[in-house]
Amino acid sequence: MWWATPLPADDAWLALLTPVERTRFDAYRKAEDRDRFLTGRVLARTVLGRRLGIAPADVELDATCPDCGRPHGKPRVPDSDLELSISHAGDRVGLAVSSGTPVGLDVEATTRNSGDDLLRYVLSDAEYTTVAALPEADRADVFFTYWARKEAVMKATGLGLKIPLKSVTLTPPGQQPAVVGSAHDAVQPASTALVDLQCGPGYAAAVAALTPNGLAVTQHWWQSADFRPLS
Ligand SMILES: CC(C)(COP(=O)(O)OP(=O)(O)OC[C@H]1O[C@@H](n2cnc3c(N)ncnc32)[C@H](O)[C@@H]1OP(=O)(O)O)[C@@H](O)C(=O)NCCC(=O)NCCS
Repeated sequence: MWWATPLPADDAWLALLTPVERTRFDAYRKAEDRDRFLTGRVLARTVLGRRLGIAPADVELDATCPDCGRPHGKPRVPDSDLELSISHAGDRVGLAVSSGTPVGLDVEATTRNSGDDLLRYVLSDAEYTTVAALPEADRADVFFTYWARKEAVMKATGLGLKIPLKSVTLTPPGQQPAVVGSAHDAVQPASTALVDLQCGPGYAAAVAALTPNGLAVTQHWWQSADFRPLS
C-alpha cells in the first residue's frame, strides 16, 4: 500500500483524469476535497500502471456505483484480478492494492470530534462498553482505531457503509485486530484479515482483506518525483 499527501491540481496530474473523473473533480466545492480526489486517482494510475507495465494514463478504472450507476463507487480495474481501495482524510491519501483478494483501506483523522452520537453510530454495544470504560484520555485514540478497522472491513466487501458499522464487533484494544462477531452476511469473521497501519500522528488507519489466510502488508510513501509524468 502507498501513502501520499495531497497533490496540487497542476496540469500534469489533471491530465491523468478521465473526462468523467474531471467532472467529479470540478464538482467538489472545497479545494482540499478536489486535491484528495485527484491524488487518489494519480496514486492509483501510477502504481497500477507500473504493476501492469503500461502508462498511468492507460490504466482504466471503473468506479460505477452498483446502486445508482454514478461514477462514485469502489474503483476496479476491468479485466484484471487487481483489487484496490482508496481512502483520504486530512493530509493523507492512501491506496491499497492486491492481486485477487478484495481489500479495503480506511484512514481517519483522530482530531475529529468524537461525541457520544458518533460512538453509538460506529461501535457495537460490546465495543461501546469497552471504550466507555477507558480513561478519558485514551478514548479518542481507541475509538478512531476501531472506526478505521471497521470501515476498512466494510470497504473490502464493496458495500461500504451500507453495512452498519455497529453490526460488526472487533477484538478489543491490545489484542490482534480481528472480527469477532458479525450480524451481516457480507462480513465473515473467519475470512476477514485486518492490519493496522501507521501514517503519522493524528491519523488512525487500517487495511482489511477478505481472506482466511492472514494479511502481510508492505507500506510505501509515494514520491511524486518517482512517478511524475512527462508534461
Ligand atoms: C465509500 C464510503 C465508505 C466513504 O467513506 P469515507 O470515509 O467518506 O471516505 P474514504 O476516503 O475512506 O473512502 C472514499 C473512497 O472509497 C471508495 N469507495 C466508494 N464506494 C465504495 C464502496 N461501496 N466500497 C468500498 N470503497 C468505496 C472510493 O474510492 C472513494 O474515493 P474516491 O471517490 O476518491 O475514489 C461511503 O461513502 C460508502 O459506504 N459509500 C457506499 C455506500 C452507499 O452509500 N451507496 C449508495 C450510493 S448511491
